[in-house]
Amino acid sequence: MRKNEAVLVLDFGGQYSQLIARRVRDQNVYCEIRSFRTPAEQIASGNYKGIIFSGGPETVYDKNAPKCDPKIFELGVPVLGICYGAQLMAFELGGKVQNAEIREYGKTEVDFQADSRLFRGVADRSVCWMSHTVYISQAPAGFRVTASSGTCPTAAMENAERGLYATQFHPEVEHTEDGRKILENFLYGICGCSGDWKMESFVTTTVESLKKTIGGKKVICALSGGVDSSVAAVLVHRAVGGNLTCIFVDHGLLRKGEGDEVERIFRHQFDIHLIRVNARERFLSKLAGVTEPERKRKIIGEEFIRVFEEEAKKIGQVDFLCQGTIYPDVVESGTGDAATIKSHHNVGGLPKDIGFTGLVEPLRYLFKDEVRKVGTQLGIPENLVWRQPFPGPGLAIRVMGEVTAEKLEILKDADAIFRDEVKKAGLGRKINQYFAVLTGIKSVGVMGDGRTYDNTVALRGVTTSDFMTADWARIPYDVLAKVSDRIVNEVCNVNRVVYDITSKPPATIEWE
Ligand code: XMP
Repeated sequence: MRKNEAVLVLDFGGQYSQLIARRVRDQNVYCEIRSFRTPAEQIASGNYKGIIFSGGPETVYDKNAPKCDPKIFELGVPVLGICYGAQLMAFELGGKVQNAEIREYGKTEVDFQADSRLFRGVADRSVCWMSHTVYISQAPAGFRVTASSGTCPTAAMENAERGLYATQFHPEVEHTEDGRKILENFLYGICGCSGDWKMESFVTTTVESLKKTIGGKKVICALSGGVDSSVAAVLVHRAVGGNLTCIFVDHGLLRKGEGDEVERIFRHQFDIHLIRVNARERFLSKLAGVTEPERKRKIIGEEFIRVFEEEAKKIGQVDFLCQGTIYPDVVESGTGDAATIKSHHNVGGLPKDIGFTGLVEPLRYLFKDEVRKVGTQLGIPENLVWRQPFPGPGLAIRVMGEVTAEKLEILKDADAIFRDEVKKAGLGRKINQYFAVLTGIKSVGVMGDGRTYDNTVALRGVTTSDFMTADWARIPYDVLAKVSDRIVNEVCNVNRVVYDITSKPPATIEWE
C-alpha cells in the first residue's frame, strides 16, 4: 500500500511523460505514470491529489487519437493538461481546436495576463517551450484564457472553480524559464500537496515494509556491481541482515579491477554475505569461436542464468529473489512494442520461475536519480553510486568478433586509461558514458625503427539524457591526445587510437 500522497501523470504517448513525473518528484511529491486508458473509477480509487495529462504525438480530432475517460473531469481532482493534454481538455469540454498554418516550436515568449494561481510568482512575460501545430482557438465555456503568445491565442486556460488548468507549452522542459514555479504552484497551491516524498523517509519506510514482507525468510540477490542491484541489495540487507545472500557472477567481462571492488564494498564494507563465482573460463569457453553479436549476447545471458541457478541451488531453500528493477523498466515494459535493435540483458532479467515464492523489488517506483540519492543515503561509495551504465554482456560486446582472454586484457587496460584521464580532467559526470572498444582492425604503424601491424582501439564517449538518443561527446583534444599517448605507450599490441564521432541514431552507443 502506498504511504505517500501522489499525483498521477496520464500518459498520452508524449516523449516527456517520464520527465513530467521526475519534475514532480523533484518537488518531493510522489508521482505515478499510467496509461490514458485507465478508467476514472480506478483513478478515483488511487486517491490522487492531482492529475497531469501529458503531451502526445496525435491530434485530438484524429480517428485514433488517444482519449481519456471523460468522467475524469468530474472527479473533483485538479487536472493540469499539457500540450496535447491541454487540447484534449479543450476539445472534450466543448472548446475548439484547430490546425495552425505553421508549427510553433522552440523557445517562445508568453504573456501571462491574468491573475492565476497557476502562475503566481511568474513574470508577466516569460520564455516557454512550445512544440505544436494544433492550437486551442476557443476555450470551452466556463474557462478563461490566462496566457497567450504571438501565434498562440490560448497558451494557457483555466476553470479554477472546477480545478481544471491547461498549458499549451511544456512546464516540465528546462527551457521554460518559470516551469518549476508553475509545477510547484499546481502541486502545492492547487492540489494542496504537502511534499512528503523524500529519500530519507523512503529508506526508513522501505526498510520497514521489507521487514514485514520478508519476515525471517531467506532472500537471494544477483549483484552485478551496477547501481540498481547494489542499492537494492543494501536496502534489503538493512531490513533482513544475514538472511540475505548476494550472488555475484563474475563472468570475467567486467572492467579492470571491478570484480574486486564489488567484493570489497559488499563483503568488507557492508558485511553482506556474498558469494563470488569466478566463472571467467566458463564464459570464455562458451564464447570461443563466436563472432556474431546477437549470438554472443544470447550465450552470455543464458550462461548467466545457468550459473546463478546452480549457485542458488547450493544455498538450499530460498524464499525471495531481490531484483533491482526501477521505474523506467516498469513503465517501458507496459508499452514496449518497439523493434528489437539489440537483445539487452541485465541481472534484472532473471526468469521468474526459478523456484522462489516471492519477488522483492524495492526500487520499483524510483527513477535513476532517486536510486542514486538512496544509494548515497545508504553510504554506498560515490564511484559506485555514480557509476556509468555498463551493459550486462560486459566487455564481450566491446571486443568486436571473437572474445579471447588476450583481447580482453588489451581492452581492459586501454579502457582503464581512458576512464582515468576523463576523471582527471573533471569530465566524469559530464560525459554520460565513455569506454574503449577493441575494433578488430589491425593496421600498420611504426614504433622506434620498426614496422608494427597491430590493434586499433576506438574511444567512444556520449552525452545523453535517456540513452535512447545520444550525441558524441566533445571531449577536449588535449584530453584525447593524452589518452591516445598513454594507450599506445602503456598497452601492448595497440598502435592506433581513433575517436568515434557518430551520434545515436544512426549508430548505437555500444558497437555490438
Ligand atoms: P545501445 O548500444 O543500444 O545502448 O545504444 C543503450 C544503452 O544500453 C546499454 N546496453 C545494455 N544494458 N544490458 C544492459 O543492461 C545490455 O545487454 C545492454 N546493451 C546495451 C548501453 O551500454 C547504453 O547505455
